[in-house]
Amino acid sequence: MNFLGIDLGTSSVKLIIMNEKGNILQSVSKDYNISYPKVGWAEQNPEDWWNSTKDGIKELINNHNINAKDIAGISFSGQMHGLVILDKENKILLPAILWCDQRTQKQCDYLNKEFGQDKLSMYTGNMALTGFTLPKMLWVKENKPYIYSKIAHIMLPKDYISFKLTGVFVSDVSDASGTIMFDVKNRRWSKEMIDLLEIKEDVLPKVYESYEVIGNVSFAASKETGLLTDTKVIAGAGDQAAGAVGTGTVNSGVLSVTLGTSGVVFASNEKFYADKKNRLHSFCHANGKWHQMGVILSAALSLKWWIDEINVDTSKNAFEKLLLEAENSPVGSNKLFFLPYLIGERTPYNDPYAKGSFIGLNVTHKRGDMTRAILEGVSFALRNSLEILKNLNVDMKEIRINGGGSDSKLWRQIIADIFNLDVSIVSSKEGSAYGAAILAAVGCRFFNSVDEACSKLIRTTDKIEPIRENVEKYNKLYKIYSSLYICLKDKFKEIDNLLI
Ligand code: XUL
Repeated sequence: MNFLGIDLGTSSVKLIIMNEKGNILQSVSKDYNISYPKVGWAEQNPEDWWNSTKDGIKELINNHNINAKDIAGISFSGQMHGLVILDKENKILLPAILWCDQRTQKQCDYLNKEFGQDKLSMYTGNMALTGFTLPKMLWVKENKPYIYSKIAHIMLPKDYISFKLTGVFVSDVSDASGTIMFDVKNRRWSKEMIDLLEIKEDVLPKVYESYEVIGNVSFAASKETGLLTDTKVIAGAGDQAAGAVGTGTVNSGVLSVTLGTSGVVFASNEKFYADKKNRLHSFCHANGKWHQMGVILSAALSLKWWIDEINVDTSKNAFEKLLLEAENSPVGSNKLFFLPYLIGERTPYNDPYAKGSFIGLNVTHKRGDMTRAILEGVSFALRNSLEILKNLNVDMKEIRINGGGSDSKLWRQIIADIFNLDVSIVSSKEGSAYGAAILAAVGCRFFNSVDEACSKLIRTTDKIEPIRENVEKYNKLYKIYSSLYICLKDKFKEIDNLLI
């Protein structure tokens, strides 16, 4: 028996086949584009997601010797918060507005200030942020009323793929949590938020737990993909909850840190808990519990920008070359700081105007110092979330790290030193896609629960311990790092106004 995990990411969809022992038999990945029609906007065409997913499935079945008969179940991990809207004929009404789109500051101000953050927090456990789904709905209502009036189905990115595979409109509790229309504590749509939107509840997808079966592959999808109609489809999860399943972050004490395009610090909780100031997101977890997380918008994205746009290095080992230079730079990057706010920042500032910056440059600095400053700046930005978790007395004993950036041993050591915690990687490097495959296996009853599957399948390796001397230095540097944003905050906004 095999399980197909589909991770619908921001730049590509990744598909993996996992067997009953948790081994990955095959994986394929298909890229697609993001379009940025205006500064701060980010959109994708859901049809591109479906075409790439279909191509990936066909490639697994036709070119990689995977027998469709052996695929017992399919599940998903998906980029969160994106708004997908369809009319009553199931036609896409607008390009999907993505999680990193920043156009909704006005709607967020309305929600947090006029409607009231206290009410939002009471109904949903969270505050409104520009990336979240509800402000996007309000933006469409205000700016495209004709389109808004035609909405028959609202869904999140991965739910478009489950719709194409099964014909049913569903979502899961973890992804629905990031809409700010969801009552996270009670794991159901929030009546109050639905009333605010003046929408009928039936435009919202039916919500399942992440490991529940939502249906089977439809006849039409079977014809298009080569999958069989007795293959079960399981709800799946938002990429952070799925990634946490993939690293076994399902119990308290374990923190997961993701160094993907965005960066995340994620803690699993036994009970629902929302911090009064909503500094962290409080969402449903994919294992029936809850979690809290802080998200920074440019983690590995900062390094990608540095490689692609500034060093303009398209060679295959560009990443390794730059990191090798960074190894020669000392802790603190020779007194150089980097603020990684290349597309604004989410946790803890919620500031779309925040800008990326190098601070402290002098003529002695080399490129290696600048690369190391990027790794340190991203890690300091993540430490902001760690500090909030500490404040909330969240239990933390170890870190499991994942995402593309975690391939770098240097970056893992920097995280261990800045967080002052042991950092391990897990034996499967497939992260969210692996989490999705685990959810499929649980949905097919191959395991009794997500927690049981994680304890049977996931092993940690390559533990790195913090180096005491570095920890002390970083504690001092972190204090300066955190004061830099405060000093520059107003100027960042002024710069934006200057350019208008
Ligand atoms: C989570 C978040 C990102 C996106 C894209 O809140 O915004 O993780 O899901 O990966």
